[in-house]
Amino acid sequence: MCGIMAYIGKKEAYPIIIDGLKKLEYRGYDSAGVAIMNGSLSLYKKQGKVTFLEDFTDGKKTNGNLAMGHTRWATHGIPSDYNAHPHTSQSGRLVMVHNGIIENYEFLKTLLKEKGFNFKSDTDSEVLVQFIEWYQVKYALTLKEAVRRALQDVEGTYAIVIMDTIAPNKIIVAKKENPLAIGLADDGFYIASDAGPMSKYTSEVIYLNDEEVGELNIDGSFSVIDLENNEIASIVTSISKSNDNYDKGSFDSYMLKEIFQQPDTIKNCISTRLDVANNNIDLKAVDEHKRLFKNTNRIIIVGCGTSWHAGLIGEYLIEALANVSVEVEYASEFRYRNPVINQNDIVIAISQSGETADTLAALKLANEKGAFTYSLVNTPESTIARHSDSVSYIKAGVEIGVASTKAFTGQVTLLTMLAIKLAIIKETINPSEVQKYIKAIHQLPTLVEGALKTKNVIKKIVKKLSNNNNALFLGRGLNFPVALEGALKLKEISYIHAEGYPAAEMKHGPIALIDENMPVFILATNDSALNKLVSNIQEIKSRKGIVVLIKNEDQIISKELADYVIEIPKVEEILCPIISSIPLQLISYYAAKFRGCNIDQPRNLAKSVTVE
Ligand code: AGP
Repeated sequence: MCGIMAYIGKKEAYPIIIDGLKKLEYRGYDSAGVAIMNGSLSLYKKQGKVTFLEDFTDGKKTNGNLAMGHTRWATHGIPSDYNAHPHTSQSGRLVMVHNGIIENYEFLKTLLKEKGFNFKSDTDSEVLVQFIEWYQVKYALTLKEAVRRALQDVEGTYAIVIMDTIAPNKIIVAKKENPLAIGLADDGFYIASDAGPMSKYTSEVIYLNDEEVGELNIDGSFSVIDLENNEIASIVTSISKSNDNYDKGSFDSYMLKEIFQQPDTIKNCISTRLDVANNNIDLKAVDEHKRLFKNTNRIIIVGCGTSWHAGLIGEYLIEALANVSVEVEYASEFRYRNPVINQNDIVIAISQSGETADTLAALKLANEKGAFTYSLVNTPESTIARHSDSVSYIKAGVEIGVASTKAFTGQVTLLTMLAIKLAIIKETINPSEVQKYIKAIHQLPTLVEGALKTKNVIKKIVKKLSNNNNALFLGRGLNFPVALEGALKLKEISYIHAEGYPAAEMKHGPIALIDENMPVFILATNDSALNKLVSNIQEIKSRKGIVVLIKNEDQIISKELADYVIEIPKVEEILCPIISSIPLQLISYYAAKFRGCNIDQPRNLAKSVTVE
């Protein structure tokens, strides 16, 4: 994973690097470091977040107009100052930041040790910079040539920025499977793991392709070659100036801000897509390939984590409304199991970041096998978006909290519209049903606002339960994936062990866990599953479980069945996963808050998982 930010040009580089690293912390926040060239090299590294690095450099020399920085998610070696990037070579001449994994690092390290190289860190990245120096010195190569030749012997993935302190008028960059964007501006080059941090400086970006090496000079010239030394004419892409707001505003965390943004983000997702006049859903990505979508009999959805949960909801909705068979796969499994893909199958990749390594690999595999690929992503110009045959954006705006909230409800909203759209194309739905659903989706933002009003009730309930170390989330039908999502949310930010189950599965094993210390969150908002669910609640209550019932305002369920009740607005049943997930987000937020956890940056996690 890890985030890279670098600059070479006319401006002071350090503030650009720090600002960029803060925007890249979604890729990891175990440690951060910066190297600035100004006559001599100033190198600062600190375990922890970018702000710790900022404090550490306070009052130290940071001026210079060539610098690189890194925010790390540890793979090889514990989070520490000495494992933080940038790493230097044996002589101290080369300095490098790396995102990725060098798979044959042990072999290379042994080889280098035999040649007298010493190592100051436990990282695979340090091995790479040492290996490049070994090539450079042994064959008297320019840095660009040394990088090109060394990378031919490297197995694994990389995005690197490297400079030679003896020739500090250029930066060399290279990438394979990890993204690297180069921003072109009059004042210099901006290099980053994604285009976000550079979008306020330039609208012209080159996305380096795999196994390409670029040389960016301080005089504004640049060139790109591949590993075989062929010149590459890189394509310059236009990016839009980012209006994304990176402030928390009046909220104590990005997560809470993002939870409360949902009425607006859902509005954004639906506003140009609900075609009331024509009783239709406007999904350009589908309309442009209408025949393909009409003829498909099988859809495979791939994703990870929360996006996978959204995919499961998509499966329920698409099968029910459009009568198309849907399979939902963990991208990490799909990519390695030689899946059967038939002609006319459509593979849908779901991803907030658009950078998740497993989802990207699954998408590439689907492309190779000749499937039509369609992605539902949040981040514009992300790698997954760029590698898909077709794309629809979730339009939730930048999501910073590691726990996905507004992106999840955006994904589910988009999938709901997709299911209706497919049903229209396949003529499995009648116009009055379409009208009913369009009307209901139109009301969603207001109903989400209503669901957010449960905040204070939830705060009181969670205060009483936050010392429990386990929890269960139960739902049936469309609320089963929501239960999985609620459990994931709770564990990732509060470190409470939680599981999600289809309610009827309890008696096949998990019911053994129920006692007076087990809070059980039950999603009862879908009326069609209600009667069966009530029996499941009774089974839990009679075993002394603590029942927290999440129900619609107008549902009549005996209060005796529940220890606590959270009431949310009633919605059309196909939309219940969106409304039901709001209280679950608030439950995990308050649990993390009462337990004193870092809500936006939980331990061991990163927002975007760019390693497999
Ligand atoms: C969500 O709360 C998680 N942090 C995580 O499961 C996430 O959804 C997963 O890593 C997939 O990310 P993506 O949507 O960016 O591909």
